[in-house]
Amino acid sequence: MPTKPIKRIGILTAGGDCPGLNAAIRAVGKACITRFGIEVVGIYDGFRGLAERHVRRMALDEFSGLLTLGGTILGTGRDKPDKLRMADGTYRDATKQCAEGYRELGLDCLVCLGGNGTQRNALTLQDAGLRVLTLPKTIDNDIWGTDVTFGYDTAVTIAAEAIDRLHSTAESHQRIMVLEVMGNRGGWIALAAGVAGGADLILIPEIPYDPKVMVETVRGRGERGRRFSIVAVAEGAFAKKAVAKAKKAGTELPRTEDRKVGAGATVAAELSALTGLETRVTVLGYVQRGGTPTPTDRVLATRVGTYAAELLAKGKTGVLVGFRNDECVPVPLAECADKRKLVPLDHPLIKSARLVGTCFGDKC
Ligand code: F6P
Repeated sequence: MPTKPIKRIGILTAGGDCPGLNAAIRAVGKACITRFGIEVVGIYDGFRGLAERHVRRMALDEFSGLLTLGGTILGTGRDKPDKLRMADGTYRDATKQCAEGYRELGLDCLVCLGGNGTQRNALTLQDAGLRVLTLPKTIDNDIWGTDVTFGYDTAVTIAAEAIDRLHSTAESHQRIMVLEVMGNRGGWIALAAGVAGGADLILIPEIPYDPKVMVETVRGRGERGRRFSIVAVAEGAFAKKAVAKAKKAGTELPRTEDRKVGAGATVAAELSALTGLETRVTVLGYVQRGGTPTPTDRVLATRVGTYAAELLAKGKTGVLVGFRNDECVPVPLAECADKRKLVPLDHPLIKSARLVGTCFGDKC
């Protein structure tokens, strides 16, 4: 049966914001309206906006002036359509309300810009009968099915600059400087920023660390006359001991949102206690998600956004727009929605980092 042509789409941004979201909204909106005659309805504050009809038809000129703007003009939220938080703190399944909203608005497809949670939520709505299409957004770069996500390059650039700045103060004071960056499950930001900034130790969730190895690294540097050290740590990094304990107990490791604080403080406390050296911690936090996107992110957001419009014009839905080998590709949502792209242990960047003497806390 031929699929209904797409004449009107809804567009929303969900999950944590990131630089490049507005550039992607602009790309989808401009290409849809001017090239393909597709109307665009903006949906505010993520999936909640669809359930609660917080929506507005958008005119072409609203997509101007967005390329360099941080955040998202549509607002965002972490609500799940099947688990919407109510004012009294309870949750309800709002899948039906979202489906009704989609029909009331006369939408032919819902375009969702988001990270892993959004891929899952879009699939939930697809299973409820909606046509959906997603774009890969997150500073974490951990979406399965795409080589890279928009927002990531900006976060790495900010984190690398922070390491550069920490270097001079670390050296002046002969201190250990620990920089905690985002990355709850995947260590992509810590890895790339750590390599770019020349961190001495890079700690990522994929490689549990041993505090004794960290100490050996710092002492080794001291013996070579390097009286300071820089540690780039992903918020979700854990010591080997903690990982083994959780495994034995058959429990999940606590994530940042549960333990309220990332790995930086723990790592700094361990290093200070075991080396006796002055240690300071900097938590970069939301600075990584704010402000204008880098040119690389603007370009990526423009490419995946315009490609999404081309797919819509062809009536193709049910996919994530992935970016692989410098090309946009449609990846079936059902294939990628419940997977996460972690740093492979044989990643070439880990190999290169080890070859220049960077330690990952597992071996010297
Ligand atoms: O969007 C991804 C992310 O920035 C993670 O790196 C981080 O752990 C999380 O969001 C923080 O979430 P929130 O914005 O809900 O505090």
